[in-house]
Amino acid sequence: MLRFHGDAEVAPGLVDLAVNVRQEAPPSWLTEPIAASLAHLGHYPDPAEATAAIARRHGRPPEEVLLTAGAAQAFTLLGPALRPRHAAVVHPQFTEPEAALITAGHEVDRVLLRAEDGFVLHEAAVPPEADLVVVGNPTNPTSVLHPAADVAALAREGRVLVVDEAFADTVTGEPESLSGRRDLPGLLVIRSLTKTWGLAGLRIGYVLGSAELIERLREHAPLWSVSTPALAAAIACASPRAVDTEREIATGLAGDREHLVAALRRAGVSVAGRPASSFVLIRVPGGETVRAALRERGFAVRRGETFPGLGRDWLRIAVRDTATSDAFVAVLSNVLWEGQHAERDNCRDPAAG
Ligand SMILES: Cc1ncc(COP(=O)(O)O)c(C=O)c1O
Repeated sequence: MLRFHGDAEVAPGLVDLAVNVRQEAPPSWLTEPIAASLAHLGHYPDPAEATAAIARRHGRPPEEVLLTAGAAQAFTLLGPALRPRHAAVVHPQFTEPEAALITAGHEVDRVLLRAEDGFVLHEAAVPPEADLVVVGNPTNPTSVLHPAADVAALAREGRVLVVDEAFADTVTGEPESLSGRRDLPGLLVIRSLTKTWGLAGLRIGYVLGSAELIERLREHAPLWSVSTPALAAAIACASPRAVDTEREIATGLAGDREHLVAALRRAGVSVAGRPASSFVLIRVPGGETVRAALRERGFAVRRGETFPGLGRDWLRIAVRDTATSDAFVAVLSNVLWEGQHAERDNCRDPAAG
């Protein structure tokens, strides 16, 4: 089940709370260069300009950037390029890094963070001998944002530390991002342009790290894997205007998320950790039945049990506009109420009347 993803929950007619991609249409300053790039599809893509633009955005030289067909492609390069002897993945998190490492023939040591303490990252939980460590920040599906210092503490000589920052731009100002850190040994930061910009179908992401590590990844990257339209998007998304817009979007998202979390808590629903991204993780008794009932009433949510460390009682909910969240919480409350009453009826001793 490592290869199960939220898009498999979505079906026509359902409100999509299962996929964490922003649903608003991308701005015209982004769609126009993508559309204009179609005139150049007769040429093989040249990533130089987009690589330089992304490098500038993160204050790094271009040799420290590798563009990829989405963050997902970057995970497939880790095993072949790095050949780890002891790979450790911090869970619960997005499952593709582990799936890609297993496909490349590596065993993966799972470090499980605990729901009881809000999925907080403890350096001591990571095996000291691990020469490859993968951690998400903010983490999908918990929405927990680890302090930059806690993530940085995992870096050391002889180890590659991969930080999946696919959702970093959902946090205003990215205070805990390591994307600009050039001093940490073995650091690779993986980024995605598909979430905030609503570009999941375009396939564009990138990796930041030392020139030496980036070159090793590049040797295993497929030729011309990032298309000309995706390169146009990368250039547009690296501009100062894009970074400003990202901040505004993240600030709006924070308000929508607080609204959703408050409504869930008012309805007595347990919300995991301190959510910081574009989704929240909830725990409801009978999660599988609840998810099926939500589907019947028009809402697709993401099941939790395919994430190592979580079970069937966990559901992940995308943050949408407040009206959608209100409608969802009203339906969820009814489903939970009906479930409690059905259980009470089942438990009632028939002999007692
Ligand atoms: C945490 C995380 N990292 C990476 C990805 C992959 O992103 P991309 O669309 O850039 O391949 C996802 C997609 O769901 C994700 O949730």
